[in-house]
Amino acid sequence: MADYHKEIVLEVKGLKTHFFTKKGVSKAVDGIDFVLYKGETLGIVGESGCGKSMTSLSILRLIPSPPGKIVEGSILFKEKDLVSVSNEEMRKIRGNEISMIFQEPMTSLNPVIPVGEQIAEAIRLHQKAGKKEAWNKAVDMLKLVGIPSAEKRAKQEPFQLSGGMRQRVMIAMALACTPEVLIADEPTTALDVTIQAQILALIKDLQKQLGMGVVMITHDLGVVAETCDQVAVMYAGHIVEYGPTEKIFQLPKHPYTQGLLDSLPKINEDQEELRTIPGNVPSPFEMLKGCRFASRCSHAKPICSEKHPELLVSEEGHSVRCWKYTDSWGKTPNWTEVSQS
Ligand SMILES: Nc1ncnc2c1ncn2[C@@H]1O[C@H](COP(=O)(O)OP(=O)(O)OP(=O)(O)O)[C@@H](O)[C@H]1O
Ligand SMILES: [Mg+2]
Repeated sequence: MADYHKEIVLEVKGLKTHFFTKKGVSKAVDGIDFVLYKGETLGIVGESGCGKSMTSLSILRLIPSPPGKIVEGSILFKEKDLVSVSNEEMRKIRGNEISMIFQEPMTSLNPVIPVGEQIAEAIRLHQKAGKKEAWNKAVDMLKLVGIPSAEKRAKQEPFQLSGGMRQRVMIAMALACTPEVLIADEPTTALDVTIQAQILALIKDLQKQLGMGVVMITHDLGVVAETCDQVAVMYAGHIVEYGPTEKIFQLPKHPYTQGLLDSLPKINEDQEELRTIPGNVPSPFEMLKGCRFASRCSHAKPICSEKHPELLVSEEGHSVRCWKYTDSWGKTPNWTEVSQS
């Protein structure tokens, strides 16, 4: 699946993150694989609860534990497996080599410390910079993310800033140590459309300057179309389709991806109401043995709810897990079977 002309910065293999609760085991992330290349953006899309945030928190080893635990798989970063590195080593990587913009900005900012100080602290922690130097760099970062009167704003506490500004502060903090990987979990969902566009443009711009790999988590396919090179479509803890963005948008293979794209508003059509995918995501406690989308899929055959579909990959690196494209349905000639898992 990997493209050897490009440099891989992060590779996730067979990752499983489960939650062990009184109600049973919730298989939030259940065997996913993806590759992030230097300077590229990988989008992870899917409905609420499909495991996007738990995937990103697993990469940074920030899963609430207990009840959560990475039970299988590896996360390769610079020849290290982040699943097994020591806590101390992970602390050095986190916020320095791999940074994250969290879904909820307020949960990761300290409400009573001026934002400039929080960014400066992150810089001092990772980069042996002096107090004054770190402060100056923090103010520079705030300017870079487009905060007006940065010197003044740096001295303010988070509650004195608007939501859009707080999100920019989060981005400034995430980028202060020029990470090689940035994980952005719904970085713009809480913001209005104009600020959303500005923030996405800002991330893109900084990505170009710094050459970082970005994992963009979103349920917004418009954001994906605009910012991502590759897309992984998640459904109930699995990646059901994966590949270059233009392939996924032009020729979606999985019925779930097709449903997601059909539910997008179309510019040139008179739509009375948006189409939605009928039914609900299965409970993570009662994951069935077959394809987890089977109960909602209009193409489903008996095998779909009996056996987990194999991963099929086309020559262009577009892959899908769906029985529709395998033997029992008549194999599509340019699709080959690569795994049994
Ligand atoms: N503390 C927990 N205990 C048990 N299960 C949990 C816990 N936290 C998360 N989960 C499980 O993990 C699943 C995936 O959650 P996750 O936050 O990754 O979804 P998401 O795709 O990020 O959704 P959203 O789009 O709403 O942010 C949830 O459906 C839930 O069952
Ligand atoms: Mg989430």
